[in-house]
Amino acid sequence: MHTQKSFLIAGNWKMNKTAAETVTLIQALQNGLPNKPKNELLICPPFTSLFEAQRLLRSSEMLSLGAQNAHPKPSGAYTGEISIPMLEELHVRYILIGHSERRLLFNETNKFINEKVRAVLSAGLKPVLCVGETLEQRKSNQTFSVIENQLLAGLREIEAKEASSITVAYEPVWAIGTGETATPELAQTVHAFIRQWLSKRFNETSAASIRLLYGGSLKPENAKELLMQKDIDGGLIGGASLDAKAFLSIFQTAEAIAQENLLS
Ligand code: PGA
Repeated sequence: MHTQKSFLIAGNWKMNKTAAETVTLIQALQNGLPNKPKNELLICPPFTSLFEAQRLLRSSEMLSLGAQNAHPKPSGAYTGEISIPMLEELHVRYILIGHSERRLLFNETNKFINEKVRAVLSAGLKPVLCVGETLEQRKSNQTFSVIENQLLAGLREIEAKEASSITVAYEPVWAIGTGETATPELAQTVHAFIRQWLSKRFNETSAASIRLLYGGSLKPENAKELLMQKDIDGGLIGGASLDAKAFLSIFQTAEAIAQENLLS
């Protein structure tokens, strides 16, 4: 039985979909969504698609909009970057921070990630802080220390009263885009560790209000067993979020579990 009220099913489109393709995918999602969903469906398209996305989403409350990154400064000489005020104007509510691809391919440090988390919270938006270990780190038994370090640094100077605006995504790097998924037990163990760590860092109530997403080859075939875990409050989905049918199927799984939880 979940401590959470609802699941957050988030799609990270990464560097996929032009603005025109975005329109097609959003329309397919809107057509397939249940009338009164119990859970939240979030899409994080690339920056160039956000304008079209918000235009389509404004008329419906059923889908939330997120961005994949943002710069912590409100404006300035940062060629190629996008600021939080620019995203706010496009009705973006969530911003992914510290995705492992940003950390590993673009050398983002924990310090920079923390600046972003704080800037997103100051703007009244919701950061999705991504954490996770690489295969080498897992093999050398560093999983928990790596995650603890990412949380400690990423959430530096953040107060308990801000905690409910935060989402944490656990994404083992070895499971991202590889078809390799963490077993539900393994994912639950790490999620429980994160929840406990958050309870100590903030307090139990705040920790319970933070949604913990699992990410890494989450797909319709494994969604149920993962989402059934006590401390898994949703998913951050890459590949399977690019296909309306697959993404909706994962959302429907979340709807069915939420319905069962209500009845039990
Ligand atoms: P994947 O990506 O679902 O394609 O493994 C997840 C992510 O990187 O957020």
